[in-house]
Amino acid sequence: MKLFRAAAAALILVSLSPAGAQSATDPILASADMRQGADLDGPWHWSIDPFRDGEGGFHGGKPGAGHRRYDEVDTTAAMKADVNALYEYDMDRSPVAQLPQSFVTLSPQMRYYNGLVWFERHFTAHPQPGKRAFLRFGAVDYRAQVYLNGQPVGAHEGGFTPFAFDVTKLLRDGDNQVTVGVDSERTASDVPPPITDWENYGGITRPVSLIFTPDTFVDDEWVRLTRDGHLAATVKLDGPAAANAPVRVQIPGLKLALSGRTGADGSWTGEAPAPRSLHLWSPESPTLYDVQVSGGGDVVSDRVGFRTIEIRGTDILLNKKPIFLRGIDIHAEEFGDNPTRNITPEAARALLTEAKQGLHANFVRLAHYPHPETMLRAADELGLLVWSEIPVYWMVDFANPDTLKTALKMQRESILRDRNRASIVIWSVGNETPVNDARNAFLRTLVANARKLDDTRLVSAALLSGRKGDVQTIDDPLGADLDVLAVNTYNGWYTPDPLSKVPDIQWRSAYNKPLIFSELGAGALAGYHDDPANPHKFSEEFQADYYRATLKMVSKIPFLRGISPWILKDFRSPRRQHPIYQQGWNRKGLDSPTGVRKEAFGVLAGYYRSLEQKR
Ligand code: GCU
Repeated sequence: MKLFRAAAAALILVSLSPAGAQSATDPILASADMRQGADLDGPWHWSIDPFRDGEGGFHGGKPGAGHRRYDEVDTTAAMKADVNALYEYDMDRSPVAQLPQSFVTLSPQMRYYNGLVWFERHFTAHPQPGKRAFLRFGAVDYRAQVYLNGQPVGAHEGGFTPFAFDVTKLLRDGDNQVTVGVDSERTASDVPPPITDWENYGGITRPVSLIFTPDTFVDDEWVRLTRDGHLAATVKLDGPAAANAPVRVQIPGLKLALSGRTGADGSWTGEAPAPRSLHLWSPESPTLYDVQVSGGGDVVSDRVGFRTIEIRGTDILLNKKPIFLRGIDIHAEEFGDNPTRNITPEAARALLTEAKQGLHANFVRLAHYPHPETMLRAADELGLLVWSEIPVYWMVDFANPDTLKTALKMQRESILRDRNRASIVIWSVGNETPVNDARNAFLRTLVANARKLDDTRLVSAALLSGRKGDVQTIDDPLGADLDVLAVNTYNGWYTPDPLSKVPDIQWRSAYNKPLIFSELGAGALAGYHDDPANPHKFSEEFQADYYRATLKMVSKIPFLRGISPWILKDFRSPRRQHPIYQQGWNRKGLDSPTGVRKEAFGVLAGYYRSLEQKR
């Protein structure tokens, strides 16, 4: 059976792999979430491997046949057929999970599992002559090793960005077996390092798909409005006919088509003055246009909004007009009492609608890592400006060149996935990182890389600031490299300041740049009420008073251009274990985990509504 299958596959594959087909190294597969593909979500078998038995023998070296979870073998049948055979796994008869979801929610025993889990499923495919096949993962947290029909196809590091492998040569006509080893354990040199203030949701947490493209396809496409009023387009083809090939970008809603020929490297950039009929994208009017990008026999569709974002002195200008960012921070964790990081389009809209309709927000900081495409598509459609960030968080190994390589690759995957999303206006390169020479050099490299990949957006980072008496000073050396300064501040929660003193705290900046508070907040257990005259921490009354006091401070800062309080809803954090108030949740949400609004929600919503009415 096995022998025949291999021979048959070889026969079919001969006609499939056209001479000279170049496989895209790290294919981008732009706008992949809108491409036709076989959906590989749904039932997968899973098997834990806490001691990495599937990766190596007990004295090191390669794992034996009885331990290779990715082999193509019906292990139980093989042992029935041969009394001497020994296998200590059986993926086809292991428990089944519905993916995408984190493995920490697969069973109560998995709640705090941190390590290697193998996932496997079978699927039917019918390779098409002249087409290439890509196995694409929306994200796997944190390391993935992928096998198709028992053969390795590739590995990926990073828990929040997409990756794809060209499997044209391995895909069979008929039944195929895909196996993924998912390792959620991180080391001190990873991005982020092991200690964060959010749950380590290991697993295949975003959609898996099999995407077919023409032999030469549109691997990257970026269409944007430049600050000098041009519509610019960049197209990158991949494949044997990528060089000197005709490409075309059509925007029917604008009666506009840009076309040209790629260079020797398969890429082309062109631009034209934006038509007067262009309706700019904004939170108040989130206009999106259908865009078709064609080249190499491939057509990629997208829905793109056009707007500009820039700074002038201490102002942030959206479409050339000053704007104040009425924001809120959000983790990629759906509403519910047992979230699993499966952010479906409905889950994304529920979170963002609570921000837009509930809080009257026009801005969301999607913390602390690139969120799923569903969140960015929803932000584009609902009209919310977005701060997007990579998880360069706290104690990163800044002196380690491999760590920098990981961060740069993650940043590239994030920006190339999302730079068509009008909602994103800020790329952030870090959060609350300790100031030292190695960190400054590391983050400056990320700032430069962001600008190289995308010269149309602003760059920032969430910084900490110094305090002397009642004066907070923003003088982080990285401020000189950023477009927008951002500071996380918790006076009155993490400091002993009486709330009555918070409004009098003064803010100074060493830079003539816009400032936003990328975090401020206090915890409250929904339903815990205290004496309004003297409320204690973790009561709803204290949280509401914290917001009243902090918003008074906010309204006095002349160069403040936005706030995004921490955080829309309570979220899981293993660091938060107070048995009465926290139980493994960070309680700074304005909503409970299931979306019950706390008193402070109304305080912030009232403040934003008043700002909205002043516009
Ligand atoms: C920090 C950090 C967050 C964390 C928050 C808190 O500023 O950026 O990730 O959850 O504070 O302490 O709740």
